[in-house]
Amino acid sequence: MNISIFGLGYVGCVSIACLAENGHTVTGVDVVAQKIDLINQGKPTIIEKDIDVLLNTNWKKGRISSTQDFKQAVLDTEISIICVGTPSDVNGHLNLNAIYETAEQIGEALKEKDEFHIAIIRSTVLPGTNKKIGEIISERSGKKRNGGFAIVSNPEFLREGSAVNDYYNPPVTVIGTDNEKASKKIVEMYKGINAPFKETNIEIAEFIKYVNNSFHALKVSFANEVGNICKKMNIDSHELMDLFCMDTQLNLSPYYLKPGFAFGGSCLPKDLKAFKTMAHDFYLESPVLNSILDSNENQKNQALSLVLNQNKKKIGILGLSFKKGTDDLRYSPVVELAENLLGKGFSISIYDKNVNVSKLSGTNKAYIDKHIPHLSELISDDLEKVINDSETIIISHNVPEFKDVNLRFPDKHFIDLVKVKDIKPSSNYEGICW
Ligand SMILES: NC(=O)c1ccc[n+]([C@@H]2O[C@H](COP(=O)([O-])OP(=O)(O)OC[C@H]3O[C@@H](n4cnc5c(N)ncnc54)[C@H](O)[C@@H]3O)[C@@H](O)[C@H]2O)c1
Repeated sequence: MNISIFGLGYVGCVSIACLAENGHTVTGVDVVAQKIDLINQGKPTIIEKDIDVLLNTNWKKGRISSTQDFKQAVLDTEISIICVGTPSDVNGHLNLNAIYETAEQIGEALKEKDEFHIAIIRSTVLPGTNKKIGEIISERSGKKRNGGFAIVSNPEFLREGSAVNDYYNPPVTVIGTDNEKASKKIVEMYKGINAPFKETNIEIAEFIKYVNNSFHALKVSFANEVGNICKKMNIDSHELMDLFCMDTQLNLSPYYLKPGFAFGGSCLPKDLKAFKTMAHDFYLESPVLNSILDSNENQKNQALSLVLNQNKKKIGILGLSFKKGTDDLRYSPVVELAENLLGKGFSISIYDKNVNVSKLSGTNKAYIDKHIPHLSELISDDLEKVINDSETIIISHNVPEFKDVNLRFPDKHFIDLVKVKDIKPSSNYEGICW
């Protein structure tokens, strides 16, 4: 395939060499003349393991060239990959000037091209950029999106230092496009890449890189805060984190990574408080640990505001314990939500088949007696009655019993805090964060 690459920095330079190695003929485009010259001498524009040999070998085979003539590059190729920089502005906003400039150049060139052209956005851009680039190319070229050209969002996951290896072994190849033909072409272009291919909607493809990188940053800071506390206690932080990483059921796993309601229960809040207080006692700053409980409070407020937005006074709650399958009410965020609503004058009916008020004992009973002392008057084991007695219904347990309540009771409004499995969205349904 003939491919042009816009931007010959880290991503562009690795892409030009690796695509050529996979048999494609690749032309690089950049605004910096020095980078064009380097590529045209068979030399990389960056320092990176394995890139010198890879680039030079394929340049000698005649598969790699470079030019400042963007128009010719587009005319000579069927795909343009955009790898230009997207730096932060002083105020933290993303500066997309180079991306828009490239879109203008591609649009300009397409005026003179009859064949269909595909533009791939490889740079990290915020959701909405794909659409905007389509508008720019359309305006400049006079061609319609999906008529004369297609735009594909295809984020890059490589890391500097291991970029060539990462290029060939990404965790997943993500494609977001509204064009079937372009999608098929890209599968063909990436033949030889060792990764599952995942086609998704354009906005998700644009956003995933931000979520990935923010999570990576969170991991680094979390581990560093743990390390700082360990050092104060003469604990080997590396041995500890090696052990931490062995837990692939809860620690390094999809568990706890689904958007939903606040955490609660008798362990997570208590242990987190003890941990951050320990850091405080050592006079250590631990902003990540400190902000977790604030974030959790924010999620409780999020649920509360969804209920308040409904302007209805009769609230049903499906699931009161801190998670499904238990009668443990201690530090259940749903108990807090109910208590809060009662304090604001709402009338509450609760359904939780695991909670039998007469059987509660010990600290569990003490907790609920303190927070909702007249629980027995509010709770019922009749799901239909609780829903019929309410106007807005909060679902807080992910159990099959609740999967069609919104369809069975179309005149009630449902607020789902857990994304009940197989629930079908309807006009009387909303999720807390979906
Ligand atoms: N570096 C990484 O590890 C990495 C990994 C994944 C994704 N990304 C993302 O990929 C994008 C590129 O990153 P990078 O590190 O390669 O950036 P970079 O700054 O190294 O390279 C960008 C290149 O684009 C060129 N350029 C700017 N305007 C141009 C234009 N109008 N036409 C042609 N070339 C132009 C610049 O001269 C430069 O050579 C960014 O959005 C970045 O966030 C980077």
